[in-house]
Amino acid sequence: MSSLIDPYGRTVNYLRVSVTDRCDFRCFYCMSENMTFLPKSDLLSLEELERVCDAFIKLGVKKLRLTGGEPLVRKGIIDLLRNLSKHLKNGSLEELTLTTNGSQLSRYADDLFSCGIKRINVSLDTLDKKKFFDITRWGKLEQVIDGIDAAREAGIKVKINTVALRGINDDEFPSLIKWCGEKDMDITFIETMPLGEIDNDRTENYLPLSMVRKQLRKNFNLVETDHKTGGPARYMAIDGTKQRIGFITPLSHNFCESCNRVRLTCTGTLYMCLGQEDAIDLRSPLRQKESNDALIDAIYAGIANKPKGHDFIIDRRSSTPSVARHMSTTGG
Ligand code: 5AD
Ligand code: SF4
Repeated sequence: MSSLIDPYGRTVNYLRVSVTDRCDFRCFYCMSENMTFLPKSDLLSLEELERVCDAFIKLGVKKLRLTGGEPLVRKGIIDLLRNLSKHLKNGSLEELTLTTNGSQLSRYADDLFSCGIKRINVSLDTLDKKKFFDITRWGKLEQVIDGIDAAREAGIKVKINTVALRGINDDEFPSLIKWCGEKDMDITFIETMPLGEIDNDRTENYLPLSMVRKQLRKNFNLVETDHKTGGPARYMAIDGTKQRIGFITPLSHNFCESCNRVRLTCTGTLYMCLGQEDAIDLRSPLRQKESNDALIDAIYAGIANKPKGHDFIIDRRSSTPSVARHMSTTGG
């Protein structure tokens, strides 16, 4: 079976799968406080999620990341991970990983490690208890920090993702970096992306990472690196240490040309680009249970329509999102 190559010659070898749109937090830049979630019957079952992942792996996907919402609130998630881990054992998959808010890590760290998960991304925007609660609306900072420590103790490498928020956590970047350094964790800063309706005006807290970098240069001696994790982050290192600081600047186009990924929502829609509406339904072909032929045809058809890049704009006059779906639908 031939591998997945898009019209611009990019090989798609990275699949991100949102296993649920639900979350136990309500981060203000991600969700509104009263979210209407999808009816459970719309979600792919665990078996369907496994089948679609199996198909992508057969088509050459080497890296699989489960996201949400919060992936660890999906019932049976460990069973799914355990089944997927067989591809790690036989070498057809190189990496199985997770993006999580950390709230359930204390409970699942050992299970995750035993499923072959070697590194995870944990979202954490502040080390201040009150601010953490304000940002996540529902979250408890201690629970996340305990979860991070549990993962590290289980043998999982943790990377921290921090959304840069003007007026909210922009005084904390040096202390977050130091804290990560002490725990031997890399950190990546992310700009807010115009995805999905939220209660606030997102442009109010938009902070370009060029400004973050400028500010950090006052505290750290940052040097360029060519470190690559297969993701969109550009990494710098703190001179004289092994600690890396990543920057994801989605509003610039710098990562589109090397984009190797596609995203599957929890209802089985395959999005070819985080910032475009181009999508294809995989749930109907999945539900034709007799064989995977229709599914595989649909995947090829989707990849053949992968757009060149996104059209995000940071429109300061309008708070309308560029893309209506929330990050929790496509999983970032
Ligand atoms: N813009 C930028 N980052 C976001 N995240 C969720 N919604 C947005 C958004 N609109 C972040 C989370 C997490 C990662 C998956 O994406 O905080 O770190
Ligand atoms: Fe949940 Fe992550 Fe969205 Fe926060 S950013 S509400 S943790 S999905």
